[in-house]
Amino acid sequence: MEVTLSIKRFDPERNEEAYFQEFVLEAEPTDRLLDVLMRIKHEQDGSLSFRKSCAHGVCGSDAMRINGKDGLACKTLIQDVAKGNKDPVIVEPLRFFQVQKDLLVDQSAFFESYRSVRPYLISDRVVKEKEWLQSPEERKEFDDPTKCILCGACVSACPVKIENPEFLGPAAIVQAARFNKDSRDKGFTDRLPALNDPNGVWPCRNHFECTRACPREIKVTKLINETKKQIKERQAD
Ligand code: SF4
Ligand code: FES
Repeated sequence: MEVTLSIKRFDPERNEEAYFQEFVLEAEPTDRLLDVLMRIKHEQDGSLSFRKSCAHGVCGSDAMRINGKDGLACKTLIQDVAKGNKDPVIVEPLRFFQVQKDLLVDQSAFFESYRSVRPYLISDRVVKEKEWLQSPEERKEFDDPTKCILCGACVSACPVKIENPEFLGPAAIVQAARFNKDSRDKGFTDRLPALNDPNGVWPCRNHFECTRACPREIKVTKLINETKKQIKERQAD
């Protein structure tokens, strides 16, 4: 099938403003968007910039906006985004990330939010044994948030970020939940300044766009609400 991609381009060294450029090529319906982007780069325009690594939905590198929805290019089939009427597939960089070039975004602010919630195990216990065992039930508690690959799709999908760019964002809260739900962790109080800040968990208004966007099917909004509840419970103690 013939596919047209309309890709948002921006080179800070050459362009004052971003613009859309169309590329037309033959593709199989079962090709992934990442395959098509790679072919454009190799066959039509070597200057096209985007990030990718594993090509299998594991590393989180190639999140982008595809027809106005956020997702991974390597997990998006052409047949699911190219319409029969030959409308172009619109490909844009993630929202709320500074564009470095074309689809390549600066992740510094994203990882600053991530670091602010102290996304690691905090405990004063000295572990003498080789392993610190948990029951299957205790491990299951953080099954969902531990799937996060830090792709940033949830942040780009978040409507709250439009009005409040300072909102901590769903990905960082998911990471906080990963450790707050871990029976070995005692770091809830250390994470509280970031989570209980006016721009922490509270601006979330349950739009569920983050949950819809997450390529790992993490219940992002539920984790945000559980974190809010946890904060209220601690404050009531
Ligand atoms: S919660 Fe989902 S969408 Fe958000 S960064 Fe993690 S994997 Fe990506
Ligand atoms: S390239 Fe690694 S998730 Fe898509």
